[in-house]
Amino acid sequence: MKQFGKSPNCFFLFYMQLNEQPIGVFDSGIGGLTVAKAIRQVLPYESLLYFGDTIHLPYGDKSSQAIQKFSKQIARFLSEKHCKMIVIACNTASSLAYETVKEACPELDIINVIDPVINQVLKPHSVVGVIGTKATIQSGIYAQKINQKDSSITVKSLATPLLANLIEEGFIKDDISQVIIQNYLRKEELKDIQQLILACTHYPLIQSSIASYYDHQVGIIDSASEVAKYVKQLLEQKNRLSKKNSVTDHFFISNYTESFEQSAKFFFGENMTLEEVTLNF
Ligand code: DGL
Repeated sequence: MKQFGKSPNCFFLFYMQLNEQPIGVFDSGIGGLTVAKAIRQVLPYESLLYFGDTIHLPYGDKSSQAIQKFSKQIARFLSEKHCKMIVIACNTASSLAYETVKEACPELDIINVIDPVINQVLKPHSVVGVIGTKATIQSGIYAQKINQKDSSITVKSLATPLLANLIEEGFIKDDISQVIIQNYLRKEELKDIQQLILACTHYPLIQSSIASYYDHQVGIIDSASEVAKYVKQLLEQKNRLSKKNSVTDHFFISNYTESFEQSAKFFFGENMTLEEVTLNF
């Protein structure tokens, strides 16, 4: 390291290399691709290293210990692959394993998908609905964080556990998903909401059906674009933006599934490559 101090050129090279490191993004499956895509839209020259933990999907039904264990393993994997930051593109892991991931990788910035939403988009005195996995809703984290910020907001939460599986299996715009979405959204728990937070990164894939259910009268809040804006802001602040004008993305999954490959290709183009890996930390 002393070398870098002696030679400005060497230092510049080292600094450039640090900036070209990829952004690590992970989720239990395809949901986090919605966040990865939003990052690509605002940061077209940042390479992405994505991990979909398809072997453990769904996270939403697992214990907090299990979610913390998986998240820690993935974070270490992303750190070993030299990611410059980690985006936990999963509400369930953000709710239950944010601190664990921070402890596992203290050298990296860790971004969760909850704080950027809470900090940006809620209206005072409004009634806000939150839908997510069982683990996210049971954690109570949204109500807690929203009311810490603004106690005038009423938060109504509902676990919608079937949705992530349905989406992961590719049931997105058909009769089955419509019936299930309607059955959830008509529940008393979500009565009179003015905004709805999609507290699961899988749900943007059914956002149009949700918006249609409410006849577009309820504001739908999806964390992806808020998270992407936050990632950009942080990299700018730290002077860590990539200086290249090309990207190299890598997609890893813990168990090959056709639907993951299809979704990743849909979001990132036919030429994306997918690798199955087993994590042994
Ligand atoms: N996409 C994940 C989330 O945001 C969860 C889906 C699951 O694995 O249950 O919570």
